[in-house]
Amino acid sequence: KTQIYLTGTRPTGSYDHNLIEENAREAMRNNPAAFMYTFGSAGTGSTYRNNIDALAQWRIIPRMLRDVTNRDLDTTLFGVKLSSPIIVAPVGVQGILHQDGELATASAAASVGVPFVLSTASTRSIEAVAEANRGGHRWYQLYWPRTNEVTLSLFRRAKAAGFTALVVTVDTFLLGWRPHDLDAAYLPFLAGVGVQVGTSDPVFMQRMGGLAPRPDERPAFPLDLEGFRARLAAGDVQARESFALGLGWLREANSGTFRSWADLAFLRENWDGPILLKGIQTAEDAHAAMDARMDGIIVSNHGGRQIDGAIGSFNALEKITASSRVWRAQENGQFTVLFDSGVRTGSDVIKAIAMGAQGVLVGRPVMYGLALGGSEGAEDVLRGILADTEVTLGLCGYKSIDEIWGKREAVIEKAD
Ligand code: FNR
Repeated sequence: KTQIYLTGTRPTGSYDHNLIEENAREAMRNNPAAFMYTFGSAGTGSTYRNNIDALAQWRIIPRMLRDVTNRDLDTTLFGVKLSSPIIVAPVGVQGILHQDGELATASAAASVGVPFVLSTASTRSIEAVAEANRGGHRWYQLYWPRTNEVTLSLFRRAKAAGFTALVVTVDTFLLGWRPHDLDAAYLPFLAGVGVQVGTSDPVFMQRMGGLAPRPDERPAFPLDLEGFRARLAAGDVQARESFALGLGWLREANSGTFRSWADLAFLRENWDGPILLKGIQTAEDAHAAMDARMDGIIVSNHGGRQIDGAIGSFNALEKITASSRVWRAQENGQFTVLFDSGVRTGSDVIKAIAMGAQGVLVGRPVMYGLALGGSEGAEDVLRGILADTEVTLGLCGYKSIDEIWGKREAVIEKAD
């Protein structure tokens, strides 16, 4: 990583988060649906800003003249040795950003050696993404369907395709109030593309009226929204079918599928592997996850896309890892706490590890890379964050992730 950083051999130049964000914004000027989807947040965007601010409130305390010649970011998660604590966050509908969609990010993640989390709302099938991620580490994110047979079908397919951990997103049983998405007609858009699960899952298709699965089908991007609306209005059969499939899927998993803690037993019984709950923001819910025999949590507020006016996710991490019950279980290897929402730089990664997270998921920055340069662009962003993390770790006087993990007094402090 240092070599890449020093020799400047990466394809799209130096990694600068602000610049990449700006370039992505610019690149999406002609694709308003993609722009509003990616940059969109709940309500006024205050939770998104609070995520960034919460990380900025904490600052790193550097130590000098320590031997940090041999540094690495080695991390072990669920018994698997990884070369860093960084993970690609599950992001839906990536086909909207680049024609290669999830295939591009999954392949970038495999090249860099970071785990890839595939969203249920993928525009490419579970099987195709696994193929693109060959040799990589992959986890499956579940938007929990209301029909158990559909859940079991997704589990079977994900298991067969080599997905090891299950990430159950608990903060999105309803889509948040996202004015940007509504402006860009997110609902018809999703319905229009007929999320891949809608077309590739045999059990879901059966429930939708016995339609045959079409695993290789992929939507045309960028979707011409107005054109699509016109086709719908004119009664175009194909447009109506994909609309129905997309809507059917939304009803299945993101439209009021209320669940209780007790229901997790079903997932526990049927998923053979680690299960993490994504979207936890309090110690109480972390304890409930432990009681429900979950293997871990992702402290996340969905990148500020669900509730407006909520706490920054890093503030939540602070409280959760301060719970002695949680921390003891983490130290004993019985419970894993990961973090996301607002991570942009190596410093952010170091702060999260020092605060007690065992791994860190990155969402939007990887999507900016995807939008700008497909698989290469996503890989570039990942290598940039990795190199930044490694260099910053060394400059702070540390040579491994273990040395800083949970050392919040020594490594970071909160600004007044
Ligand atoms: C998301 N996120 C998300 N999470 C999830 O569990 N399933 C999903 O399908 C999606 N889709 C999605 C789309 C887009 C465009 C974004 C930006 C995010 C949330 C994601 O996994 C992660 O929690 C956040 O992106 C983390 O915040 P940052 O890194 O974007 O600040």
